[in-house]
Amino acid sequence: MNIEEEIQALKKKKNAVILAHYYVPAEVQAVADYVGDSFYLSKVAAKTDADVLILAGVSFMGESAALLNPSKTVLMPEPEADCPMAHMADAAKIQKLRDEYDDLAVVCYINSTAALKQHADVCITSANALEIVRKLPNQHILFIPDENLGRYIASQLPEKHFLFNDGRCPVHACVTKEIIQKAKKAHPNSLVLAHPECTPQALALADYIGSTSGILRYAKESSHDSFIICTEDGVLYELQKQNPEKTFYMAMENFQCPDMKQITLEKVQTVLKDGGQPVTVNPALAKSSLPPLQRMLDLAAPDAPKNPQGGKRP
Ligand code: 13P
Ligand code: SF4
Repeated sequence: MNIEEEIQALKKKKNAVILAHYYVPAEVQAVADYVGDSFYLSKVAAKTDADVLILAGVSFMGESAALLNPSKTVLMPEPEADCPMAHMADAAKIQKLRDEYDDLAVVCYINSTAALKQHADVCITSANALEIVRKLPNQHILFIPDENLGRYIASQLPEKHFLFNDGRCPVHACVTKEIIQKAKKAHPNSLVLAHPECTPQALALADYIGSTSGILRYAKESSHDSFIICTEDGVLYELQKQNPEKTFYMAMENFQCPDMKQITLEKVQTVLKDGGQPVTVNPALAKSSLPPLQRMLDLAAPDAPKNPQGGKRP
């Protein structure tokens, strides 16, 4: 048996399913039962009836799965794979702003630790942020931890007042305006599809702005046949699978999340075989961090809307 066949056999034996983010290596996506963006994976995690969930992604994804489905065993192929941005906010600063603004809603990107989520009123992902923040009755919004996603959502909701946090995805935030200009010059007939974790300067040059699933949807539905992709290069696997006749150029070389790329087939096989340490969240933290996550699922449409971010530039 090769490694892929062994993984399939182990999944059956253990009644396990593999949930993989679009940014993990292609060969891991290929053995997964569910592949998607953070929003999709959180919905699958909340509903699955498998006994074991193998979360091929970074630690906040495993933690969210454990919060949403506490009766299941959640295992990470690489427990050390972590999202640096998930830690980039400060409880004391959040409290200070709560004291200043009576009607403040703290909106927390799902790319955050449970320790951070417990300070939020609601969680969002890049696929549902616009829809959810628009529905909030609050006038003042504190967006944590991603300043770039926050600024993009603010640009689409001028009727609300936003406060931002000093945090960002180190992978998307390093795309400069010059990098996009260079890619456009090299491929003048291609449309630029960018993730809202990129800086406002980079997004200003994009033809479409959306979550990973939004980018996939746009590329599929567009009559255009070539695109410059401004997000993590793991998404190329699904883009090429869905659109074999279209051409995709990465906005820059090595557009990779080092943590997502730590997930290998060998680690998936090992965790299925040996079990490993299940992801747990202590009960007190689970009690305070689950409600904002659950509120996200309640407020978001049951199925992601066709064009979640509307594709508008800031
Ligand atoms: P989405 O999965 O929401 O598109 O977010 C991208 C990301 O950076 C995940 O870590
Ligand atoms: Fe975190 Fe960025 Fe990696 Fe996503 S791509 S896991 S936001 S560092």
